[in-house]
Amino acid sequence: AARQDDASHSGPVWRTLRRVGRSAGISLRRATCGDGRLEFSPVTRYLVTGGAGFIGANFVHHLLAHTDATVTVLDKLTYAGNLESLAGLPEGRCRLVVGDVADPVLVDELVAGQDLVVHFAAESHNDNSLRDPSPFVQTNLVGTYTLLEAVRRHGTRYHHISTDEVYGDLELDDPQRFTETTPYHPSSPYSATKAGSDLLVRAWVRSFGVQATISNCSNNYGPYQHVEKFIPRQITNVLDGGRPKLYGSGANVRDWIHVEDHSAAVLLITARGRIGETYLIGADGERSNREVVEAILSLLGRPRDAYDQVTDRAGHDLRYAIDATKLRTELGWQPVYADFAAGLADTIAWYRDHEAWWRPQKSGTEAAYAVLGQ
Ligand code: NAD
Ligand code: TYD
Repeated sequence: AARQDDASHSGPVWRTLRRVGRSAGISLRRATCGDGRLEFSPVTRYLVTGGAGFIGANFVHHLLAHTDATVTVLDKLTYAGNLESLAGLPEGRCRLVVGDVADPVLVDELVAGQDLVVHFAAESHNDNSLRDPSPFVQTNLVGTYTLLEAVRRHGTRYHHISTDEVYGDLELDDPQRFTETTPYHPSSPYSATKAGSDLLVRAWVRSFGVQATISNCSNNYGPYQHVEKFIPRQITNVLDGGRPKLYGSGANVRDWIHVEDHSAAVLLITARGRIGETYLIGADGERSNREVVEAILSLLGRPRDAYDQVTDRAGHDLRYAIDATKLRTELGWQPVYADFAAGLADTIAWYRDHEAWWRPQKSGTEAAYAVLGQ
């Protein structure tokens, strides 16, 4: 490890390490950890599932920008995957394999050549899970099982991406937040299949000694998020001259984190997380849906009440809230995007500047919501 003064990656410690590494035939990677230290280790080969989706794509950009790792993305390119989200990556360090995480032959072949698997691929939208749960069971449960069997065979380090929704919901005035010991109590087909996949990981660690970690993150926002999800849906509605659509009263609370902060936390856990452990990721970003809609409207220069209240989601979870003390104290992680309003303004600017990225999905997404009165 070297100190922050070598952060330029051209300082004396980094140069010496590279020279020694080269003469030993080892290429080194660098990673900035949460407490500011730089760590050096052999180049790592990552298999990133779901890397063409929202969080996976942001993670691939983050990983390639902050380390010397190489990446294989395995993605089925469902409606939620977008090749454009992987544009502009450094030459020769990332390849995409289009395929299914539930395909045991393909998964075995891909895992064989990797040092580390980070599993983002999932069916991820609650509303879709209420319309048709079957792909959720297949991808989230069978897909995770398929990966676990492959990493078991090959002895490969595995990191599992999960959600705070496995814990169910909290009352608005509950002083407790979710921690790593909160009992699982999922509400929807989405969160139930994610909860099941987490339990598979824990069983494979205990029963077979699989080298795995799990992270459960709160609601993400930022670039490359599909327009079916709350924040991009409302931003693009307003950009299109329409109105945000708030489910029910809008009192439901989500704990927002910028996707870049999620990526940094995942990278840190893959580097320094303790095997078998779960880490909750959250940035103290609790806001009601109504507050978020009002903030979007005012950042876009519209009256704060220019939204529609629409049919509520069945079984709608009331509140999520994460206590990320373990991640902060044990691994030294802290969010960069502490100011939600600033992160939201950046996100609005991204959607305004990238209409070509989201436009093809917009009308079909809105048509599906309209059928449900949403
Ligand atoms: P997303 O829907 O934007 O992307 C999912 C990606 O997985 C897509 O590229 C899709 O093509 C791919 N995929 C789907 N089924 C596949 C299959 N069978 N085989 C291979 N690829 C497949 O999802 P996201 O919002 O980026 O979420 C990524 C992960 O993070 C999920 O595991 C989700 O549960 C978790 N998570 C999401 C949030 C959030 O706020 N979005 C919060 C916490 C955790
Ligand atoms: P969503 O982005 O679907 O994430 P999740 O269900 O995983 O929390 O929704 C976030 C919140 O916003 C949730 O309380 C449902 C609500 N919501 C709306 O009010 N209007 C919408 O158009 C959408 C898509 C969601």
